[in-house]
Amino acid sequence: MTEKRILLIVTGGIAAYKALELVRLLKRQGIAVRAVMTQSATEFVTPLSMGVMTEDQVYGDMFDLKEEREIGHIQLSRQADLIVICPATANILAKMAAGIADDLATTILLATDKPVLAVPAMNVRMWQHPATRRNLAQLKADGVTVMDPDEGAMACGEFGPGRLPEPPAVAERICAMLGHGFDATLTAGRASTSAPAALESQPDFADITHRPLFSKRIMVTAGPTYEAIDPVRYIANRSSGRQGFAIAAAAAEMGAEVTLIAGPVHLVTPPGVIRIDVENALEMQAEVEKALPTDVAILVAAVADWRAADVPQQKIKKDGKGIPPLILTENPDILASLAAHKQRPKLLIGFAAETEKIIEHATAKLAKKGCDWIVANDVSGDVMGGDNNAFHVVTRNGVESWPDSPKDVIARKLMEKIADEIA
Ligand code: C5P
Repeated sequence: MTEKRILLIVTGGIAAYKALELVRLLKRQGIAVRAVMTQSATEFVTPLSMGVMTEDQVYGDMFDLKEEREIGHIQLSRQADLIVICPATANILAKMAAGIADDLATTILLATDKPVLAVPAMNVRMWQHPATRRNLAQLKADGVTVMDPDEGAMACGEFGPGRLPEPPAVAERICAMLGHGFDATLTAGRASTSAPAALESQPDFADITHRPLFSKRIMVTAGPTYEAIDPVRYIANRSSGRQGFAIAAAAAEMGAEVTLIAGPVHLVTPPGVIRIDVENALEMQAEVEKALPTDVAILVAAVADWRAADVPQQKIKKDGKGIPPLILTENPDILASLAAHKQRPKLLIGFAAETEKIIEHATAKLAKKGCDWIVANDVSGDVMGGDNNAFHVVTRNGVESWPDSPKDVIARKLMEKIADEIA
């Protein structure tokens, strides 16, 4: 029997890391895999990891003329028995349905005459959106096989259909489409002899113990603090907690044991995260202390700098004797005290919400607080409570500026940098 070959197109979603495991499983079944990655897929998984798994060159840049001469997009498709898109984002499904060919992956898909299997993975709302429903109906009418996603808790904290099916289920479906036997015993554990050494050293992503932050303890603070003036009034700020929650979610996704110490916010606890709710800075500091030791602490919370010096037991009355004075006192600086703590986390990261001279202020803050990184963001727009954020990551080695992105996307990027740092 000649070896079956698939062309695996990996697109950019948090589930892209599962494509590595899919390749490993397919190779165990005796199926050859060649991979094409979209530009955004390479934000989640490096072509190097994919190349180690496929033991082949990874294709991505359509305009590499040398590559086009030696092995063009037509040839990539011609050499495959089946084309699999896993994970398939809403974006690539839309492009396929519209016949757009603006990169190597979409050009292959428009040019191929081979069977195509799409394995979508996306946020539940994107999956349920009428545009995605329309695109899927069109793709099915065009002859594309679509594997339904699983239902469950998602990286974004929502619940519903949209999760990538587990790699063994995808591998089984691929084998069925290829008319190739599927040996389920080969999907569990590690192959004893058949996998090459390079594959043996690669993580098995079905298993939580092989996620990049497995067993790392990570503490995240998020949200505002409320500082009481009296039993009914308080001082607060506009922090929504969304960025901190997204960071906690991304850390848990990557296998960390996450403690999220949250100020007063109305947000769903991300899957796998231990959440401790607090109201004010003193409570937050006490819970931060209790959460030690941790490997990493990411203090995203917008802690109030001041609190009322005296908080009366009763509501302050409008008694006609004039405006009552509001005497403030300083709150502890949790970040600075953690930096000086005997159980200081190995990697201590502070956030800096700035409205001007962002990098200058953040650099000064790095030194003043004694932390390892400061993630600075410009809050002069609608960042607080908004969907997007842009980071300037200030470390002792310099500044990395990351463009405006959805808070969950930039959170994953930050966690990847953290994973690289503490690996
Ligand atoms: O000094 P500033 O409030 O700008 O510093 C912001 C950073 O310090 C954030 O990481 C925030 O969580 C932390 N912080 C703190 N305790 C405070 C004030 C800020 O841990 N009292």
